[in-house]
Amino acid sequence: MHPNLITMSVSKKEFKKVTTHVLQEMKRRGEKIAMLTAYDYTLAGLIDKAGIDVILVGDSASNVMAGHETTLPITLDQMIYHASSVIRAIDRALVVVDLPFGSYQGNSKEALNSAIRIMKESGAHAVKLEGGQEIKESIIRILSAGIPVMGHLGLTPQSIYKYGTYSVRATEKEEAERLLEDAKILETIGCFAIVLEKIPAKLAAQVAKEVSIPIIGIGAGNGVDGQVLVLHDMLGLNTDFSPRFLRRYLNLGDQIKTAVGQYISDVKSLDFPNEKEQY
Ligand code: KIV
Repeated sequence: MHPNLITMSVSKKEFKKVTTHVLQEMKRRGEKIAMLTAYDYTLAGLIDKAGIDVILVGDSASNVMAGHETTLPITLDQMIYHASSVIRAIDRALVVVDLPFGSYQGNSKEALNSAIRIMKESGAHAVKLEGGQEIKESIIRILSAGIPVMGHLGLTPQSIYKYGTYSVRATEKEEAERLLEDAKILETIGCFAIVLEKIPAKLAAQVAKEVSIPIIGIGAGNGVDGQVLVLHDMLGLNTDFSPRFLRRYLNLGDQIKTAVGQYISDVKSLDFPNEKEQY
């Protein structure tokens, strides 16, 4: 049977709060997981009320919130600030926070300290780290402190200077085999889910089939257990970024520019405020 048919035949069970166990149960039942990024109180509250399963406080905040070209400059303190704003807004979603570049690659003790700071100072529910075999010790140490870890393989933006481009990863056999091996390592050591970014759909579907933990794709096709997009991209707030995998659900950027243009003209023409809009 086609995977979509399985999903459609499963009746959606409503969970009061989404936990890592709920996600594993969703994979088991064939119900797809919907994940989006958020970095602030207002938008996090809206997407939580809309019923999103997982909110990722991604280090993409470095791009969309701070205007940096890469995710490398964002700091642990800045991630904690974004994460605590998100946490104050949510009732239902599981909130996962990216460990930023430089806060975990050096050694496992530093990785643990960074993860503990995120959990303690923001109230987040889990952390995400980019990489496989090479950061295994860090992940094991974080897990041993009782902190749930989401993995991230494929295109890993924190390594952009190693690869030099944001193009599709694991198109060659050797890299595809290494990715599958890394996914199995992450599953074995105890990660609760893995993000697969920008890899061939066929490979992503194979990973989702061969590992028992949920696989969340971005640019990885629909044979996986869930999808994630950057909120600002799917709302059309950020129009300079148009990869093939991105579906825009709104053109909020254009709507905001039109609304602000109208406000400017109302102020200049003395139309705003009118008699009812003053004391
Ligand atoms: O930082 C981020 O937004 C991410 C997603 C692209 C998965 O890691």
